[in-house]
Amino acid sequence: MRQVHICEVGPRDGLQNAKHLMSTEAKKAWISALAAAGLREIEVGSFVPPKLIPAMADTGEIVRFSRTLQNVKVVALAPNLKGFQRAVEAGAHKVTFPVSASRKHSESNVRMTPEQMVEEVRRCAELGGAEIEGAVSTAFGCTMQGAVPEDDVVRIAVSLAQFCDAVALADTVGYANPAQVKRIFSRVKREIGDKLEGAHFHNTRGLGLANALAAYEVGVRNFDSSMGGLGGCPFAPGASGNVITEDLVFMFESMGASTGIDLEKLFKAREILVNAIPDEPVYGHTALAGLPKGFRAAA
Ligand code: COA
Ligand code: ZN
Repeated sequence: MRQVHICEVGPRDGLQNAKHLMSTEAKKAWISALAAAGLREIEVGSFVPPKLIPAMADTGEIVRFSRTLQNVKVVALAPNLKGFQRAVEAGAHKVTFPVSASRKHSESNVRMTPEQMVEEVRRCAELGGAEIEGAVSTAFGCTMQGAVPEDDVVRIAVSLAQFCDAVALADTVGYANPAQVKRIFSRVKREIGDKLEGAHFHNTRGLGLANALAAYEVGVRNFDSSMGGLGGCPFAPGASGNVITEDLVFMFESMGASTGIDLEKLFKAREILVNAIPDEPVYGHTALAGLPKGFRAAA
């Protein structure tokens, strides 16, 4: 039984910030390999203006293709109603909206205030057509605003919980530390209970795994991560890669918490990624070191 649920966000968070474009065919091969490794949820792209992020121009085709894979929840990010409509039309099972707790990041990222963005997500939820996740971004700090008051994070999470199927907290720029993670997740959980689902960490200062473990220890079981540690928001200065899927899976499996993901197959998917954009730096200790002698995955 899966005790930890991992959503691979590399095809969206990773490729949106990569210097090199991945072809549509390579994306399909990579996503297929991720599914074959046991990932049951994959954020395959975003529905944003192609002029803004050319790497996401083929998301419609990628969503339609991903829907043909067995047992994969196909997730797409949308920044507004138009993106949501495109996502539903393409057949995304779930749509994630970035709702920044930082006013400055919100205005830079989606050209709306946090309050306007909450209303935009509410309109989409009223329309229906896909599961909706409200991700509170910059929940642990912002490179533009600096500190983000915890009260702002809680207020936005509470608003989103009224109409979203799930709420996530995202450390968009890698500012979080484990004590803060425990405190804020616990506080939001007290307010919105099981609506609080996911944790989205970036590894900018090397604390991605520590933060994931801290969240696990306060009951979080849904994590976003990115293969090879690709990732970052192009509209948040200084944002770099997500917590690395290969290392996250290894951490949980070696602790005895099953992810349902096969590490050897995950390394095969990583080869596809590396071959598709060979000049893009990829990270991760586990894939480089290999599995320890006698390693056994969690039952
Ligand atoms: N997909 C495709 N096109 C879209 C779109 C979407 N989701 N949203 C708007 N557009 C088009 C509009 O139709 C309009 O086209 P036109 O110039 O041909 O008439 C144009 O883009 C501008 O629309 P507007 O509503 O004024 O958008 P904007 O310029 O204020 O930008 C967002 C707002 C939300 C679309 C933009 O800031 C955005 O995409 N942000 C997301 C950034 C991102 O991906 N960040 C990383 C992930 S967290
Ligand atoms: Zn991110």
